[in-house]
Amino acid sequence: MKKIFILTGLLMSLFWFAGCVSPKSDTPTEETASAHSTSRWTIGMSQCNLGEPWRVQMNLDIKNAADKHPELRVIFKDAQNDSLKQRAQIEEFINTDVDLLIVSPKEAAPLTSPIAEAYDKGIPVIVLDRRVLGDRYTCFIGANNKTIGRAAGDWIRRRLQNQGRVVELKGLMTSTPGQDRHTGFRGAIENSRIDIIFEADMKWLEPNSRREMESALARFNTIDLVYAHNDPGAHGAYLAARAANREQDILFVGIDALPHEGQVYVRQGLLAASFEYPTGGRDAITTALDILGGKDVEREITLRSRVFTKDNIDQGGEWVN
Ligand code: FRU
Repeated sequence: MKKIFILTGLLMSLFWFAGCVSPKSDTPTEETASAHSTSRWTIGMSQCNLGEPWRVQMNLDIKNAADKHPELRVIFKDAQNDSLKQRAQIEEFINTDVDLLIVSPKEAAPLTSPIAEAYDKGIPVIVLDRRVLGDRYTCFIGANNKTIGRAAGDWIRRRLQNQGRVVELKGLMTSTPGQDRHTGFRGAIENSRIDIIFEADMKWLEPNSRREMESALARFNTIDLVYAHNDPGAHGAYLAARAANREQDILFVGIDALPHEGQVYVRQGLLAASFEYPTGGRDAITTALDILGGKDVEREITLRSRVFTKDNIDQGGEWVN
């Protein structure tokens, strides 16, 4: 009997250890590789952070797509939401002679020069989701954030029948999606009776959003709707309102609509709407294969977006572009 216990214990620790070192492990580490022993090409993937579900999903989409191609090996680096670290990691990729780079940059200005340097040295670069300045990269892949912001504005305008008191919780304003989701939205609500009574940069992060929403709730007795630039932001605002017993009086709208995050919030009735923001991970691998195979690719690949509400979610949402 004792022997069986010892054997089971031994086996269990062996499985535990195997789980920890397996490349399939979901635990985000600073550097992980998705490797085939026979791979012909090495892709460096620079991810700005893995602290948010959307970015974990992007890496997973890249890994799953790359795993189907034995000729590819992908090395992932996580910059942990630090632009300087991301710059250094791109330099490391350049120095180790990767065949192609995929970069999802944290901020436009600081990431422009290392990307341009790689491109000038002949390394093809795919910029994913957030943009950089200028045009020294091979291809940009992402959804159109101005279109999404405008679609959110149109939807909110209709839902509020052209008037109301709205809080805008913005994504990092030194990143292009934050800027574009703001301008698109403001354009759509121009000449309406919608007042933006409070706005703040929550830098894409749920805890920041919750804190900003606490200030908004303390200052305003009536808030009709919160437009947050991503779903973690909308959820943070919802939590603040719920803590103040005011969540029933306010509508919450977010962006991302991941199947296991925003879409769940919509089903639960926490969010009135969420606009899909596809990760582009699979598209990045398809495009990388084209580039590595010597094909010409479009400089700009625009992904489509859908809006999910309680009424349309069972039918798969509704396209906004
Ligand atoms: C994750 C994220 C998403 C958002 C995207 C914009 O870091 O904040 O929630 O849609 O980045 O780049």
